[in-house]
Formats: sequence, structure tokens, C-alpha cells
Amino acid sequence: MSAYRKYRIVKKIRETDHIASFYLQPVDGLPLADFRPGQHLLFKLDIPGRDLPVLRNYSFSSAYNSSFYRVSVKKEAPPRTAPQLAPGIASSYLYDHVKEGDILEAKGPLGNFCVGEENNEIPVFIAGGIGITPLLSMAEAVLKTDPRRRIHFLYGVNNRREHAFGEELRTLRQLSATSRFLTFYALPEESDQQGHHYDRAGFISIDAIGDDLLHVDTRFYLCGPAPMMAFITEALQQRGVENSRILTENFTAASVEETDEEPVATGSSAFTVEFRRSGKTLSWDDRFPSLLEFAEYNDIDISSGCLFGDCGTCLTKLQGEVQYKHPTMVKPGKGECLPCSCVPASDISLDA
Ligand SMILES: Cc1cc2nc3c(=O)[nH]c(=O)nc-3n(C[C@H](O)[C@H](O)[C@H](O)COP(=O)(O)OP(=O)(O)OC[C@H]3O[C@@H](n4cnc5c(N)ncnc54)[C@H](O)[C@@H]3O)c2cc1C
Ligand code: FES
Repeated sequence: MSAYRKYRIVKKIRETDHIASFYLQPVDGLPLADFRPGQHLLFKLDIPGRDLPVLRNYSFSSAYNSSFYRVSVKKEAPPRTAPQLAPGIASSYLYDHVKEGDILEAKGPLGNFCVGEENNEIPVFIAGGIGITPLLSMAEAVLKTDPRRRIHFLYGVNNRREHAFGEELRTLRQLSATSRFLTFYALPEESDQQGHHYDRAGFISIDAIGDDLLHVDTRFYLCGPAPMMAFITEALQQRGVENSRILTENFTAASVEETDEEPVATGSSAFTVEFRRSGKTLSWDDRFPSLLEFAEYNDIDISSGCLFGDCGTCLTKLQGEVQYKHPTMVKPGKGECLPCSCVPASDISLDA
């Protein structure tokens, strides 16, 4: 679906000190589009004090129902190494300021990080922190459709203060006698009780999966901090799990975290950008962080996923030169670019 739609926040709930859930209903009163569990919405946020809208993805955090969409947002703190920096722009705005009755614009459902529908599949959901959102949607969809299906749900957080959706996971656990739910606290506090608030201390351990680990029908769905996903992927590979059975979703740019390359300077405002299929030629505006945001602002649709160059969804045919603002995991070929991560370095023409 390519058009933005307006949604009213009909309910806002604080899940933890840093996570809030938003329940959305369409302002136009028409039915909600169905989505596949694991998908997300692309929000275009008009944040007071900013002259341009901010684009951010937020995953559905519950299975589809025809009454509302739910997304859950963690207010991003500054990096531990630079506490003087501002917290995340969009997540702070949503967590601190957006309230019931407010209206947000979003596009979607989008994304291919979705659970398999085959009944014989044994899904293993491995969630770190706010990475739980798409996996909770998947687990709820799987078990509510067929409570006889076996799933594993491994969820890691630091401690009870960061532990969201505990009640929902308990309800899901009760639906399925054959499924396994385990919560890991990396840094339990004195008042956190093992066996009551959490199951195991330490980081998530895939050995908890037991015999299903190497079962041919087991598939692994990972979403969480980049180091956690790298660690678990490696552990799975070492135990002989093929890459085709490991599906991941990055909420942040793993490629940027893994590189020492310097970001490249932005382009000049003198360049023109032709969007061939849309029949528009526009002057580039330096205020935009990327060609994709420039296109979105001008109502030109370019499919997107991660927004940081890791998924390849926005890959677009290009004539002319672009400059990348940061290293990307996907390396575009000659005559192609990733509009989410680059700006013009000459007059350009895009197949969009
Ligand atoms: C497919 C997908 C689904 C997602 N689903 C969810 C979801 O369900 N829930 C959720 O909460 N998030 C989700 N995300 C992440 C979300 O889209 C945003 O990236 C996240 O909310 C952070 O955005 P922000 O604007 O708040 O932070 P930004 O403003 O983008 O900042 C990010 C971080 O950078 C730090 N920072 C600020 N300035 C600097 C600087 N100068 N140098 C270095 N660091 C700096 C900030 O303090 C912050 O820690 C998803 C992402 C993707 C790709
Ligand atoms: S949106 Fe993912 S690479 Fe551009």
C-alpha cells in the first residue's frame, strides 16, 4: 500500500518506563488493511520545532484485528558512550508528547519479516528489548490461529524495569501447552525474583531450545540489538543451522555500527532530481537527509524497509551520481542507488 493514511490514537499505554503502546484507528472510518504478523508501518511525523517531517518505522506489536492497530515505541536514550547527546527524535516525541486523540500519518503495512504459515514449521522467536514487537505479533497470530502449534519464545531484557508485555506472554503461554516461553534478565535487580518475574539470569541461550534446535522444520526469527543478533546467529551457525532458517530484522543500522568509515558530506542544492515515472523534476534541497525523504515529501512513492541501507527494498535505477551519507550493508550496482541512504552528487534521474 503506497498512500499515507491518518490514524487517531485511541489509547496510549505505558508498558515500561521507556516503552509506550499506541492503539490506532483510521480517521476515515474505513476498514483497517490486513497485515502479516511481523510487518510495520512507516510513520511521517510532524514534530514541533522541525521544518521537515521525520520518517520512522514501527512494527505492529499485536496480531491483526479489525478494530485497531497497535505499535509500541521505546524512547531511545542517547548512546551510553555519549550521554550528552539528545535522545531519539521520533521516539521521544511519541513517548513524551503524543497523546490520546492525536492524529498520526502512516503508510503500510510494509515489510517481509513475517512468520511462515506452514503448520509444520516450529518457529523460534528470539527477542531482545524492544525487538519483541514484531515477534509478539507473530507469536500471537500463530497461537491464536492454531493453539496446537509449538513455538519457542526467548525474550531477553536487562531486568523487570525493562520487561514489557509480561502479562501478554503469560496469556499466550497458557494457550499452548507444548510451547516454551523463557525470559532472560541480563542484569536482574535485587527485587527481581527468578521463577516469578523471569526464568533465567544472563543473556539468551539458544541451548534452552533443546531437541527442536536442529529439527528440519524449526525456523529462527531474531529481532533485537545488533550484537545480540550477531551472537545468536553465530551460535546457531556453529550448531549447524543453515542461514536459510535464520530470519532477522534490524531496527538500527548494523552496517554503520560495524564500520570505521567516515560519513560522506552531503550534496549541493544546485542539483536537479528527475523522478521519471512520476513525471516530476525538482531542485534538490539540502535540508533533506536522503533522496527517499525528499521523494516522500514530494509525494513520490519509493518502496522502503529499513531506511538505513541494510535491506535493499528501496534499490532504484539511477542516472547520474549520488553520495552515500554512511556505509550500507547492501552495495548497489552500477546504475542503481539506495535512495534511503544517499543524496545527489550531480543532476540525477531516478526510476521512480
Ligand atoms: C523495520 C523496522 C521496525 C521497527 N520497529 C520498531 C518498534 O516496533 N518499536 C521501536 O521502538 N522501534 C522500532 N524501530 C526503530 C525506529 O524506527 C527508530 O529507529 C527508533 O525509534 C529511533 O528513532 P528516533 O528518531 O527516536 O532516534 P534518532 O533520532 O534516529 O536517534 C537514534 C539514536 O541516535 C542517538 N543520537 C542522537 N544524535 C546523535 C549523534 N549526533 N551521533 C550519534 N548518535 C546520536 C540518539 O540518542 C538515539 O540513541 C524499527 C525500525 C525498523 C527499521
Ligand atoms: S530502505 Fe532498506 S536499503 Fe533503503
